[in-house]
Parts: sequence; C-alpha cells; structure tokens
Amino acid sequence: MMKVLSIIISFIVIQGLLITSNAIPISETSNVTFEEKYNDMLDFIVIGDWGYQGKGVGQHHGNQKNVAFVMKKWAERYNSQFIINVGDSFYKSEPDDHQGVDSVNDEKWKTAWLDVYEGRLAEIPWYSVAGNHDWYNNVSAEIEYSLTVDSRFFMPSLFYVRTNIINGEKKTKVAWIHIDTNIFFYKYDLLKNDQMKNNFDTLGWNDDNDVENKLRWIEQQLIEQQDADWILATGHHPLIGACVAYNYMPRLVELFERYGVSAYFAGHAHVLEYQTPKPDSPVAYFTSGAASRTSEGCSGKDWGMPEGTFGFLHATIVENEMTFSFVNATTTKDKVVYQGKLTARSIWHPK
Ligand SMILES: *[C@@H]1O[C@H](CO)[C@@H](O)[C@H](O)[C@H]1NC(C)=O
Ligand SMILES: *[C@@H]1O[C@H](CO)[C@@H](O)[C@H](O)[C@H]1NC(C)=O
Ligand SMILES: *[C@@H]1O[C@H](CO)[C@@H](O)[C@H](O)[C@H]1NC(C)=O
Repeated sequence: MMKVLSIIISFIVIQGLLITSNAIPISETSNVTFEEKYNDMLDFIVIGDWGYQGKGVGQHHGNQKNVAFVMKKWAERYNSQFIINVGDSFYKSEPDDHQGVDSVNDEKWKTAWLDVYEGRLAEIPWYSVAGNHDWYNNVSAEIEYSLTVDSRFFMPSLFYVRTNIINGEKKTKVAWIHIDTNIFFYKYDLLKNDQMKNNFDTLGWNDDNDVENKLRWIEQQLIEQQDADWILATGHHPLIGACVAYNYMPRLVELFERYGVSAYFAGHAHVLEYQTPKPDSPVAYFTSGAASRTSEGCSGKDWGMPEGTFGFLHATIVENEMTFSFVNATTTKDKVVYQGKLTARSIWHPK
C-alpha cells in the first residue's frame, strides 16, 4: 500500500514539474528502491567536499590528490564495494572557474573526478547526494550525467533509497536513505546564491509545504524500511553539535530518532568529526568533509580533528557490527586517528 502510494506521489511530482516548468525537470525522488546484494559483509568509504581539480584555491599542493591516493590504498586493501559521496562534488577551483558543473559535458567530470580517483576508486559506484556547491550551478546536470552518461556517479534523483542484502551466515539488511539537505538547511527567503534560488524556483521549492512534503517522503521511506538491521542516512549538511541548528535541520534529527536510524553521514563542515550515540540521542553522527579542504568543525562534537587534517571515513558492516576508522590522509603517510564500533538497530530497536 505504502509502495503504491509512493509511486503515485512521485508520479504526481514528476507530472507537476513537466507542466509548471520550462527548464529541464529535476528528478526529486526516485519511485523505486534500488536493491543490491552482497556476500558476507559491506565495506565502504565516506567522502565529502572533494571536487577541486586536484588542488584547492591557493593551495600549492594537491590535497585532494593525497586523500585520493590514500583512499585508493584503503579501497584496494579492503575491497571496498562503494563510495558514499556526501556532496560538494564540484567546487570553483580557480578564480575564473565556475561552481558545480555547467552540463553533462563539463570538463570537470574528468578533471575533478575521473582523473583524480584511480584504481578501485574508478571501478566502484559513488552513491552521491548534492551539496550546496552543486546547487550553485546546474544540479540537474549531475542527475542527467548519472542517468545518461555514467551511473557509477550514482544520483538518479535528489532523494533515493537503496537496500543492501548481505548474505552471510545470517542474512543482514542495510537500508540507505540518501537525502538532499539543501531544502532543509536553507530557507527560501534567505537564499543568497542566485543560481541556487533559480534551481529552487524551478522546483517550486518556495514555501514550507515543499519542506513538509520532503519530510513526509523521508518518513514514509523510514516506515517502509523498519525491517532493516541497519538504517543509514546520508546528506550533505551535518547534524553534529551546534551544526544542527539551521532552519529545518532539527526536523531530520526528530525523524531519525523516532524511526531508529543507526547513523547519519554528512560533510559540509570541512573536518572529520563524530558524535557518539547516547540514550537521549541514539543516532551516530559522522562528518567526513575533509577530502580537499579543511576548516574548523561543529562545536559540541564528541570527537573531531583540528583544522588542517585532511581525510575520510572507512567502515565495514558484518552482521550486527559496524567498525569504522577515520583516516588522516593529510600526506600519503596515512594514519588512523579514531576507531569505533556500532551495533545494529535490530539489537537496540528490536523488530
Ligand atoms: C519511475 O519513473 C520513471 C522515470 O521517471 C518511469 O519511466 C517509470 O515508468 C516509473 N516507474 C514506475 C513503476 O512508476
Ligand atoms: C544543465 O545541464 C543539462 C545537461 O547537460 C543541459 O541540457 C542544460 O542546458 C543545462 N542548463 C543550463 C541552464 O545550462
Ligand atoms: C595528520 O597527519 C599529518 C601528516 O602526517 C600530521 O602532520 C598531523 O599531525 C596529523 N594530525 C593528527 C591530528 O594526528
């Protein structure tokens, strides 16, 4: 029933767009859940805020490339199965460069992504969401690229759900909810970037109804995935400490807690940070936004790296246990700077 309802709702949304807008329709939500099967375990890397053309503005050394080098080493050592990309995939690299991408033919697909991430990183899918810098230009071109050029950059719509069935000794189900947080982090009336505002206009995202619709969509997906051992959410903007306080972002926390989300992965803050689950805040919050630039993080975190530390997050799920490591990849002499474990929601949130 839920599924039928969600298909009908998505259909209405898509139809609505075709009628009301003469720009290219942006696919907001996918009408299908993407199902994947794995053997024994899941292994993945979480990366955010990476899209310079090898180096950042004013940087003489390619920090993005150092991080990419270390990521490749880790992905090959652990046979990582995919990348979770939390957005800001394309920055303005030089003063005369543009934000985001212009089109599916933008040379940055090559210079910021294909040319930088090599070996296994160039073979496995990158499950992506859009960051604010992606919205500062042609965000729909990123969806179109995924649908028509190379689905390895996986972003069939702004919001989508994947399920991973892991066939080990015990069958384990992981549900991923990929969310575009820009609608929750920015308030339409306060938008400062013209192109972002244009994109919001194209979608008709100009009042609280759109926010409520998206929250309802997320809630419906969370209800449908209650049989999962793990529910993992990803979005661009962080929910750690003081960083939670933007506009509609606290509504996500409320939903995640109500429906037993295990963990939320984000970037935007250019740091590596972690907030441990607690009785009054049972979701684990990860920030991995230091893949090409660094800055001070969110105050109030339980753990974080100082400005100047580049890196990423690596995680493995075997049945009821997730082990994770934050990796300092500032130079190619990488080092684990934090390690931890989480337990499946099916243990602490029984079905
Ligand atoms: C889902 O959407 C796609 C494209 O938007 C459409 O081609 C397809 O028929 C839809 N599937 C269902 C089951 O509605
Ligand atoms: C956005 O990208 C698409 C796909 O390449 C292209 O067709 C469209 O013209 C672009 N829009 C703008 C405003 O440049
Ligand atoms: C991260 O690695 C760099 C380079 O090896 C090192 O200088 C820095 O101290 C490390 N940061 C931390 C917090 O360990």
